[in-house]
Amino acid sequence: MKTKLKVLLIGCGNMAGGYDLLQPEEALPLGHAKAFRQHGGFELTSCIDPDTAQRQAFQSRWQVTHGYACWQDLPQDVGAFDVISICSPTGVHAQDIQAALALKPRLIFCEKPVSLHLVQTQQAVSDCARQQVLLAVNHSRRWSPQVQQLKQQLAQGEWGAVRSVSAVYNKGMLNNGSHMMDLLLNLFGTLHITHVGQAVVDFFDADPSVDACLQTADGVPIQLNVAHAHDYALFEMQIVTEKGVITMEDGGARWRFRTAKPSAQLPGYNFLNDGEWVTPQGSPALRNAVANLHDALTRSAALACTGIHALQAQTLCEQIQQQAVAKWPQPHDRREAA
Ligand SMILES: NC(=O)c1ccc[n+]([C@@H]2O[C@H](COP(=O)([O-])OP(=O)(O)OC[C@H]3O[C@@H](n4cnc5c(N)ncnc54)[C@H](O)[C@@H]3O)[C@@H](O)[C@H]2O)c1
Repeated sequence: MKTKLKVLLIGCGNMAGGYDLLQPEEALPLGHAKAFRQHGGFELTSCIDPDTAQRQAFQSRWQVTHGYACWQDLPQDVGAFDVISICSPTGVHAQDIQAALALKPRLIFCEKPVSLHLVQTQQAVSDCARQQVLLAVNHSRRWSPQVQQLKQQLAQGEWGAVRSVSAVYNKGMLNNGSHMMDLLLNLFGTLHITHVGQAVVDFFDADPSVDACLQTADGVPIQLNVAHAHDYALFEMQIVTEKGVITMEDGGARWRFRTAKPSAQLPGYNFLNDGEWVTPQGSPALRNAVANLHDALTRSAALACTGIHALQAQTLCEQIQQQAVAKWPQPHDRREAA
């Protein structure tokens, strides 16, 4: 039997396993613990969480033998873990990455965003590179088959020229906007900012949502709009191309592909058809992410989302927030808005 890769997990909350608690056993994993378990090539042996009840419930649900309240309690056994998964609150990721590096794992799998501040993320990415520790970041759509397929179709010209992109997100430029920025960077390559709107505090005081305009290297305009986190979760995108319109709804839970066809009524006109809806049954992103980690460690496969990718997204997010605050020093606090 092949040796399983040993995993230490930090922060036993929703992304660690909580989101899976109400799902049937056979459902695709939404959190790290289930993803590691379903894969079969990993052994989650230890976890850290200062909340005793949370930690013990997590250990019991996912059969994790060793649990600790903090890094200081963990035996400092260098090389004991192949993978360290970081699912703690974003504000402690930077220190968790440094503590993880001291144990010399082969790979760190960090929840997004890598840290709250670009300089900390730069430090983490360069420290991992210098110490030859792989850093994977869970910008989950990098592992989405729909996104991978769409990227390929766009690159191969199946949709013709891209005319424009409209995207909308809420709950923080860094918290959720970084997912959108990573998706846009993945699909369209280098982006630069052409306009920045107003910072709106719709959930996190320190992480306002901001609307902005960007452009691809070919000059394709991208409108990044905001919604309000207290209304409902929103993460959607529409890509207008020469041959039709592609729409991603509900974070990628639904896709619509409309193509242009000659009008039956109006000669000489092309109109969009009703198109085809694609509704994947659950998201295989985390399952695929964990398989990618395993392949990276056992077969030197390239990681689909690295610290460098996350750094590129966070750089744009931070620039947008800084420009917004420079223009309007008081972020608009719309949390109480009716
Ligand atoms: N990839 C995604 O789409 C996605 C979705 C949700 C959350 N996240 C990210 O996952 C991370 C965790 O979010 P969550 O929703 O699971 O949060 P959560 O609050 O559900 O869980 C965080 C856990 O960390 C524990 N914790 C607090 N301080 C700690 C410390 N110093 N060391 C170790 N553990 C500590 C808490 O007790 C809690 O159990 C965040 O960085 C968040 O941005 C990513």
